[in-house]
Amino acid sequence: MSLTTFRTEAAGGGASLTKVTVPSLLEKKMLHRPIAAVTAYDYASARLVDEAGLDFVLVGDSLAMVMQGQENTLAITMDEMLLYTRGVRRGVRRALVVSDMPFGSYQVDAREGVANAVRFVKEAGAEAVKLEGGRERAELVKRIVDAEVPVMGHIGLTPQSVHRMGGYKVQGKTMAAIDELRADALALEEAGAFAIVLEGVPRELAKVVTEELRVPTIGIGAGPECDGQILVLHDMMSMTFAAPAKFVRRYADVAGVMLGALNEYKADVEARRFPADAESYHLSQETRELMEMKVGAGE
Ligand code: KIV
Repeated sequence: MSLTTFRTEAAGGGASLTKVTVPSLLEKKMLHRPIAAVTAYDYASARLVDEAGLDFVLVGDSLAMVMQGQENTLAITMDEMLLYTRGVRRGVRRALVVSDMPFGSYQVDAREGVANAVRFVKEAGAEAVKLEGGRERAELVKRIVDAEVPVMGHIGLTPQSVHRMGGYKVQGKTMAAIDELRADALALEEAGAFAIVLEGVPRELAKVVTEELRVPTIGIGAGPECDGQILVLHDMMSMTFAAPAKFVRRYADVAGVMLGALNEYKADVEARRFPADAESYHLSQETRELMEMKVGAGE
């Protein structure tokens, strides 16, 4: 057993699992083993993600869009993020659970940012938090890490900056932007971030940043040279209703399967094919006869 992993007994079954930890993700980078992650927002999906053996599950603030149908991620609150994180936490035993700090929970005041990061661990069982931004967040990242909460950085296309960016646009395309992104990544690593999400950046730049860092990079729309990859669960399962971004690969048509099942159910109900007798509860013979006598006698 490596120093950075530990064995934990699976509840009930007695099987053993290798728990993913912050150090074990760092170890994966050293061993050049890719890290696979997805988002999840509820108990059932989180259980499946864990069973599939993904390394970490992100309770992303993307839930504002894919779970709540909001236009962007900005309105989601701390209380909502804690609620969704608790459901995911109950579904996961092996993967690392990382929660997104919502917009406004860390940008205004550093003390409040540290306190909110601690809330994710204490009140919802998260094992790490993710926050957006580069050099401007380095001091805060250090303070949160000093408070014993591991931090994942997130640079490049940062959805909480949608108004400043003027939309969801690929970042790091000019020499000035390249220099800034590299400096941001190094500042976050120096501040103690254990991994950094690179979102919406050119593949060539993500490769350079990945080589320059000791901590793993987790790419989303950042090419194959990142140390790991993450996708939004609803995107990869075709559970979103707009055209997918270029970087999304659709692994299943869950919306199609659900729609087919719902149409079939509706037709069965309308044709009285559902429920069948086998799907119904029955009285005992004796009670049934008594009831029929009573009803027959007009009682
Ligand atoms: O909120 C989210 O789902 C994310 C991922 C896109 C990395 O931040």
